[in-house]
Amino acid sequence: MNVSTDATIPMSLGNSEGSSAERDATDPLREFRDLFTLPPDVIYLDGNSLGALPKATAARVADVITREWGTDLIRSWTSNHWIDAPQRVGAKLAGLVGANAHEVIVADSTSVNLYKLIVAALQARPGRSVVLSEPGNFPTDLYMIESALRTMNAGHTLNLVSRDVLAAAITDDTALVVLTHVHYKTADVYDMAAMTAAAHARGAMVLWDLSHSVGAVPIDLNAANADLAVGCGYKFLNGGPGAAAFLFVADRHHSVLESPLRGWMGHARPFAFADGYEPAPGVHRFLCGTPSILSVAALEVGVDLHLQADMQQLAQKSRELAELLIDGVSERCARFGLELVGPPRGAPRGSHVAFRHPDAYAIVQALIARGVIGDFRDPDVMRFGITPLYLRFCDIDRAVEMLEDVLQTEAWREPRYQVRAAVT
Ligand SMILES: Cc1ncc(COP(=O)(O)O)c(C=O)c1O
Repeated sequence: MNVSTDATIPMSLGNSEGSSAERDATDPLREFRDLFTLPPDVIYLDGNSLGALPKATAARVADVITREWGTDLIRSWTSNHWIDAPQRVGAKLAGLVGANAHEVIVADSTSVNLYKLIVAALQARPGRSVVLSEPGNFPTDLYMIESALRTMNAGHTLNLVSRDVLAAAITDDTALVVLTHVHYKTADVYDMAAMTAAAHARGAMVLWDLSHSVGAVPIDLNAANADLAVGCGYKFLNGGPGAAAFLFVADRHHSVLESPLRGWMGHARPFAFADGYEPAPGVHRFLCGTPSILSVAALEVGVDLHLQADMQQLAQKSRELAELLIDGVSERCARFGLELVGPPRGAPRGSHVAFRHPDAYAIVQALIARGVIGDFRDPDVMRFGITPLYLRFCDIDRAVEMLEDVLQTEAWREPRYQVRAAVT
């Protein structure tokens, strides 16, 4: 694919003053949009709970089904390298998160990976009894901490402290800090290196949830001296619904940390079928059961696609699209009571923008009916995902127009937009 990396285009893109049409025409990432299947009448601003479908995914998954499974059958574990897929895709993913290839593996869901790493970290910090996190962290992170503490039944407590005082709350009794790098609602972003340094200064470890960061913002785990991380494959990585997740364990912890879920795929020699468990070396021990090959194959397409993009260009375009949306909403929709949530314009942020409104649910439904797909987060937040690989500046303009129209006409008051669906 011919993706422009023209050195004459400055990193700032240099065109943020132009019209959206001009900005789209000179966007160095513009050719990526064509690699995705996007319905023509949809502006996809999901924020980001399901990334769009890469065009290459259907053919790749069809090949895995018809040839690798249908024809090659069980031989595929070796001949089509199914057995190495978690490590292979993990190694590729490492390039997106600033890790070494042997520090990342694709496995399970983010929730399960959280559980495995929380227990492993607590067992590696005996004598310390506190896990720190923040109120309003993504629920599964808090639930998985609770699950780990219940299972361990070793007297640990979970302490939830708001982010402005969190670093100061780390003490010599803190075993682990569990934080989401980019907040799923607000797009607030932590300074990973600073928080990690604060934890290390007191002998604690940090576990980062990268679900809303990976593929969306630059991440450098090793530069931040990070210990542990997990993340989703189905959001910005475009791995498909319920895609396999990933986990990172820094090399220095490899010989110490052990998975509490001693499945056979994390055994040093699974096909020795030994009665006793012996952990595989390195991050490999955090595999549990047989990998979901169809899911990992789909994820690999999304990861490969991201590896072709320049992360700094992605981040720059993400900022510019977010600012266009913030400016548009503040000019055209603020009079209807919309309030920006999270970082102010120009401040570091993740790749979504959230606004608060008492009728956010109905407004989002009315927008979806018009083809502008954002999402709602309880109780009053509308969240719009910024995916620079396939969004255009003109899409943001159109979305703002639609939002203004929904608010101006009060279309959202229609009864059909008030009915809560199971998934928001
Ligand atoms: C920050 C964060 N962590 C974890 C999850 C859930 O991950 P999984 O469904 O893979 O367990 C989500 C889902 O939206 C999320 O936003």
